Amino acid sequence: MATPQLAGIPVLILKEGASRSREREAQHANIMAAQIVAEAVKSALGPKGMDKMLVDSLGDVTITSDGRTILDEMEIEHPAAKMMVEVAKTQDNEVGDGTTTAVIVAGELLAKAEKLVDKSVHPTIIIDGYRKAADRSLETLEKIAIPVKPKDKAFLKKVAMTAMASKLVAENRDYLAEIAASAILHVAQEVEGQYKVDLDDVMVEKKAGESLTATKIIEGVVLDKEVGHPGMPKWVEKAKIALLNTPLEIEKTEFDAKINIERPEQLDAFLKQEENMLKDMVEKIAEKGTNVLVCQKGIDDMVQHFLARRDIIAVHRAKESDMEKLAKATGGKVVANLDDFSEEDLGYAELVEERKIGDDKLTFIEGCRNPRSVAILIRGGTERIVDEAERSIHDALCVVRDVVQEPKIVAGGGAPEMEVARVLREYADTLPGREALAVQQYAEALEAVPTTLSDNAGLDPIDIISELRARHEKGEVWAGVNVFEGKVDDMKKLEVLEPLAVKKQIIKSATEAASMLLKIDDVIAAGKMKGPPTPPKGLPETEYEGEE
Ligand SMILES: Nc1ncnc2c1ncn2[C@@H]1O[C@H](COP(=O)(O)OP(=O)(O)O)[C@@H](O)[C@H]1O
Ligand SMILES: [Mg+2]
Repeated sequence: MATPQLAGIPVLILKEGASRSREREAQHANIMAAQIVAEAVKSALGPKGMDKMLVDSLGDVTITSDGRTILDEMEIEHPAAKMMVEVAKTQDNEVGDGTTTAVIVAGELLAKAEKLVDKSVHPTIIIDGYRKAADRSLETLEKIAIPVKPKDKAFLKKVAMTAMASKLVAENRDYLAEIAASAILHVAQEVEGQYKVDLDDVMVEKKAGESLTATKIIEGVVLDKEVGHPGMPKWVEKAKIALLNTPLEIEKTEFDAKINIERPEQLDAFLKQEENMLKDMVEKIAEKGTNVLVCQKGIDDMVQHFLARRDIIAVHRAKESDMEKLAKATGGKVVANLDDFSEEDLGYAELVEERKIGDDKLTFIEGCRNPRSVAILIRGGTERIVDEAERSIHDALCVVRDVVQEPKIVAGGGAPEMEVARVLREYADTLPGREALAVQQYAEALEAVPTTLSDNAGLDPIDIISELRARHEKGEVWAGVNVFEGKVDDMKKLEVLEPLAVKKQIIKSATEAASMLLKIDDVIAAGKMKGPPTPPKGLPETEYEGEE
């Protein structure tokens, strides 16, 4: 853009180094960046999707096929590309699964929109068409969804298994799905005829070692901490648990203090006094009947020694999040000042025990006052496996929660997307010209899901999609891609089941992001804009610096 001239004097309204791009150019650049992001996660979709090895700036390696994790670790800078990362985040926060799909659909919606813009359809009309298509999609999904019983474990397990089908841990998904379903059922609470699940009630800890099938569910809390002092008991029954958030040490003064000691007795007296102060602390804890102490701050060696003498188990430097979980599980209260500590603040558990897990010692708190508290201790061959297992179990827990809270499911494998696309095409015929075009493109964008699943399974997407279209025309609602046998199949019969909530959220997040990016016709950057992530093969590079 040429700088505007006013009687020969250039008028500058942006600070030096700022860049600006407008209208088609801005739109094109944004869409391109968003598509590059979608392209980057495509190959990870579905059970036949590939994993990605991501190395961060510190050299730490993550191996994953989880959409959100991939995008998080990519450290994306381009503003439009960042919005795609937001899509994955929203999807993850709302329903916990379908992150890759949402990003792919958003990218596809933008690609199709660009085709329309090239045919001079105004973005506003596209956005309107997309909105209508999204509404119709949500309606259709509701209509085809199958109601289930919220506590039907068999179904819940299948949903969890579908969520883990695409993960590194797929081989053990039967075992892990059982754990995820049990854990969620354990914490589900009935409120006015509906079930509510707070995922925070399920604690997830991990320790490398043994194998995935050694992963266990514990009715209580697990702390990745060992008991502080060798003289302390290794286990306590009927535990009365004090939760403290104050250091049990003699605080160092902020300034340098000097004490002049002239005689040895003075030193003795001084040390004695320190010791008495520490003893006092222990007394305040012990006199309330405490036999387990979990402290968020440090505990002085001397205090540990005194605690051991009173047969009190103590764990120090516990995580804040663990303190909150402990309070909830044991019915105790985290106390910040020892002088305020009273008997009512004590939590209760049947058993507190330190156990050796692999090379480490962990503290187990079982049979808590709150019977709903539950923990999952993930085991697995290596650090990377337990990390990916944690992400997979997160997805599994989320989808089970989704179904418990909204007990409706759909089949997967691209079947619902194909069915919605079919309905949208019918719907498009009832709309005026340009809007109809937008709705048709929306339908095509949804077909990216079965297309990508086929692609990743090494199948010919063109064959598969045309067969899928034909079978959906014939009324086979659950016809989808059987990626293992390489053919079109009834996904419901194959028991590839997913929460309705996930599919609905994909429509919402993808449409929102696409509309938002389409509305932008002016990008003004105060500094120089960073370039887009490197495009994968096949996509052209674009210029992102703006003008001037
Ligand atoms: N056994 C299966 N056969 C075909 N498709 C499957 C199967 N299991 C899962 N899928 C499909 O894989 C897709 C999910 O893949 P995933 O990699 O988990 O991505 P997302 O991050 O979107 O959840 C869904 O469309 C789901 O229906
Ligand atoms: Mg998934």
